[in-house]
Amino acid sequence: MELDWLLAPPLPEAVPRQRLLYLRLREAILSGRLPADARLPASRSLAVTLGIARNTVLFAYEQLVAEGCLVADRQGTRVAALPAAPLAMPTGSGLEAPLALSVRAAAARQHEPARDAEALPFSPGVPDFGAFPFRAWRACLERAWRDAGWRQLGYAAHGGDPSLRAALAAHLTSVRGLAVDAAQILITSGTQAALDLCARLLADDGDTVWAENPGYLAARVAFRLAGLQVHDVAVDEEGLAPVANDWQRHRPRLIMVTPSHQYPTGRVMSLPRRLALIERARAAGAWIVEDDYDSEFRRAGPAPPALFGLHADAPVVYAGTFSKTLYPGLRLGYLVLPRAIADDFIHAAARATRAGQGIEQRALADFIARGHYTTHIRRMRARYNAHQAALRAALQQAFGPGLELSGGEAGLHLVMWLPDDLPDVAVAERAAQLGLGVRALSAYARPPVRCNGLVLGYGNLDEGAVEGAVARLKRAVEV
Ligand SMILES: Cc1ncc(COP(=O)(O)O)c(C=O)c1O
Repeated sequence: MELDWLLAPPLPEAVPRQRLLYLRLREAILSGRLPADARLPASRSLAVTLGIARNTVLFAYEQLVAEGCLVADRQGTRVAALPAAPLAMPTGSGLEAPLALSVRAAAARQHEPARDAEALPFSPGVPDFGAFPFRAWRACLERAWRDAGWRQLGYAAHGGDPSLRAALAAHLTSVRGLAVDAAQILITSGTQAALDLCARLLADDGDTVWAENPGYLAARVAFRLAGLQVHDVAVDEEGLAPVANDWQRHRPRLIMVTPSHQYPTGRVMSLPRRLALIERARAAGAWIVEDDYDSEFRRAGPAPPALFGLHADAPVVYAGTFSKTLYPGLRLGYLVLPRAIADDFIHAAARATRAGQGIEQRALADFIARGHYTTHIRRMRARYNAHQAALRAALQQAFGPGLELSGGEAGLHLVMWLPDDLPDVAVAERAAQLGLGVRALSAYARPPVRCNGLVLGYGNLDEGAVEGAVARLKRAVEV
């Protein structure tokens, strides 16, 4: 058998001869060029043909025998009979298994803004990284590492590190008025993981979940990937505004809401709406998933009471995150669960995910217990208020009396409404070309809901940068 082509040029410099010979032999076998049962020359003879050391050939043969591509017997070495020569299968023959994701996965393909957009002025949801308390956090991390034992190197305890669950329960009780104990808290990898767990543990395949319209796109993705039917429910000035048809024709199993600061419109759900939603959900046998987004950064006064805890035995699970109060890369958040389901939920979650980050969890517990967390939130609230005031003033100056803003009661963004003859998508595209991270409000909405405006994040936009950013925004708006 002529095998001199095995080491024909090109011979890449970086690949040692024995590896190259092995790779080319393997490719020839998998592609069918060397058919099943073909006898290969003895190692000495192939070495002579190729002008290489015999050991080089022996290495390649032994490796391929170990992998099952070659068989060595008393007569020598031959090509193994593989189930099919996978590389030889003609593409388009219809015989190959489709190399495709699930149909559901298409839900995750849409709406992903570019990662770099996070650093741009007006990118929504980005905290002020410059004001992060690096020293205090580093000290907590160092202490956590110093005191770490083998337990912190394994999977995290069910529900999360006990010290963090206890610190959070105390924090939520004193700051958010939720009478919860540590056993009701499940530490998650942020809200996204919490939503995924809710979708999989509180609903079944094909169940309906209500999503706010306009609403948080990443939540829709989590729900669709879990096999739920997403039904969009409109939002008005008082928050989620379901009508009779929604309850009757699209009976929900889950209802996802952001009542403290509706994302993205920034509206706050009224108390009558909160009470009515709890009552109707209870009657329908639905779970409310309360994403208490942005409740920490109120402009003035305390946040309105959470749905969780408004009523005894309310069918509400409460989700919170450290992504905005600390930093999103930390990937820590939490669910607060009603006592009736806490144990079962936490056990199921532990089986579904296997949690980790024991060290970060301990550091965070320490950070909260030492009072750094509350101090940081207080500082940031003042800072974000200043950012917002500066942004409002600059927008007023640039756009004059026609300017319509909403959503400033809390959080890290404002909505600037646009007249119908200025489509937000086109404005956002022009703004992107000018280096701005604004998002079109309509991108968060599904028909028949129509909205036209810009979501302007100001978390990471300090007062010094506001004027320049608004000047660029004006250029994008006024073509
Ligand atoms: C409405 C809403 N909830 C929660 C989050 C935080 O998600 P995570 O905790 O997964 O970072 C975001 C982030 O932008 C958000 O917009």
